[in-house]
Amino acid sequence: MKLLRQLKDFVTYDADREFYAKVFPESVTKVDLMRLRKMEREDLPQVLKIEANNYQYPWSENIFNDCFTAISYTCWICEDDENIIGYAILSVAAGESHIMNISVDPEAQGLGVGKKMMEHLIEIARKKAETMFLEVRPSNEGAIALYGKLGFNEVGLRKGYYPAANNEREDAVILALELVSLF
Ligand SMILES: CC(C)(COP(=O)(O)OP(=O)(O)OC[C@H]1O[C@@H](n2cnc3c(N)ncnc32)[C@H](O)[C@@H]1OP(=O)(O)O)[C@@H](O)C(=O)NCCC(=O)NCCS
Repeated sequence: MKLLRQLKDFVTYDADREFYAKVFPESVTKVDLMRLRKMEREDLPQVLKIEANNYQYPWSENIFNDCFTAISYTCWICEDDENIIGYAILSVAAGESHIMNISVDPEAQGLGVGKKMMEHLIEIARKKAETMFLEVRPSNEGAIALYGKLGFNEVGLRKGYYPAANNEREDAVILALELVSLF
């Protein structure tokens, strides 16, 4: 089954790439040609490398392994034909969805990969949830700009949610997006 899915993904990806590259060569960007697929355990070495480069307090391998087994979680990666460029973890349960993690290789940030992944997660969540939530550090201006452009609004604050330097804690801003079109 896994082999079949990988084969199908590969064919769809190559077919799309050739079609758009031939018919609309000017319109095809590197990010358009990236594809999203479910994360596999074999992806973890590359994922952990990006995680370590992006966060001062990165998730451990064990946390990612727990995400594979949690029934309400789906783990995604965005890749080009050589490397994993980004990944995201989504939880959907009881009509609510949560972005647990989203991260783009520092060398590929600012190109639209984060937006592409978020739009994918929103489409998936829409089928089962009314609202999408996420937490973000107030200091993370880039991420906040991305979420704002996607329509997220601030709905609350979690005091001392994140670890910070000198054994201190940083608050988390809670953002929410209504996924109304579904119901
Ligand atoms: C936050 C993150 C996922 C965004 O992904 P990205 O691929 O860099 O963002 P995109 O290129 O898709 O940007 C999408 C939009 O957000 C805005 N944006 C993204 N980063 C920005 C920044 N640093 N400053 C201002 N705006 C920014 C862009 O203007 C862009 O809008 P546009 O489409 O109108 O140009 C990525 O920067 C990252 O991995 N950061 C480190 C990990 C992290 O902080 N994750 C989020 C935890 S809550």
